[in-house]
Amino acid sequence: MSDPLGQLWGIGVGPGDPELITVKALNCLRRCPVVAFPAGRNGRPGMAQTIVTPWLNPDQVQVPLWFPYVQDASTLETAWQGAATQIGSYLRQGQDVVFATEGDASFYSTFTYLAQAVQQQQPQVQVHTIPGVCSPLAAAAALGQPLTVQHQRLTILPAMYTLDTLETALDQAEVVVLMKVAAVYPQVWAILQRRELLAQSRVVTHISGHDQVIYDNLDNHPQLSLPYFSLLIVHCGQNHPLG
Ligand SMILES: C[S@@+](CC[C@H](N)C(=O)[O-])C[C@H]1O[C@@H](n2cnc3c(N)ncnc32)[C@H](O)[C@@H]1O
Repeated sequence: MSDPLGQLWGIGVGPGDPELITVKALNCLRRCPVVAFPAGRNGRPGMAQTIVTPWLNPDQVQVPLWFPYVQDASTLETAWQGAATQIGSYLRQGQDVVFATEGDASFYSTFTYLAQAVQQQQPQVQVHTIPGVCSPLAAAAALGQPLTVQHQRLTILPAMYTLDTLETALDQAEVVVLMKVAAVYPQVWAILQRRELLAQSRVVTHISGHDQVIYDNLDNHPQLSLPYFSLLIVHCGQNHPLG
């Protein structure tokens, strides 16, 4: 009989503050001999790596995995398959691998694609997910405001929303969260200005980190040079909690 395969664990490690990792994720992180995470850029560690580093011990193998920031499907697929092959060698040796992902592991996370690729390559591998604190919820806490109350509808738009999609969301939901807003901020600002929603909109960057910034008077900020880790929350309802 062949040796048992290692198991793959995807853990959400929260938005930045190392104390916002769950006890369950932390136990998993400490237990697994192999710790993988998205590789950083420009010689700097990535967000998930920065969050987990204080919790690691020197015996654990650290495996940075490279994922490109592109839309091209075949480039992405090649990267996911390559990453799956890298951690697959440890799984084949019976070693458990934990993949640390920023925020939550099921919310716009690379872990979804990595796990799919691993299961394509080794269908017998067991995959587990441990949830984490995702950025919209951490942003609400940072703002000291509930994200939603009572009957408010919440719409979360990912990176590639068209401006039409944004208009529809603002028509239909009382609370709208824009992920990856950095790339489209000036266009979003123009729409919010036309709809007179700037006073009810806030941008939070590097939520819960020591470098967190809150922009809460967007009237004064038609242009902002925002980092990748930025999101915008609009409370559009009449009875919004910021009103
Ligand atoms: C690929 S998504 C990852 C979402 C993540 N899995 C989560 O649970 O929040 C990346 C986007 O999430 C948002 N984001 C994630 N973490 C953030 C943080 N600490 N501060 C601000 N925005 C964050 C930003 O909009 C960023 O462009």
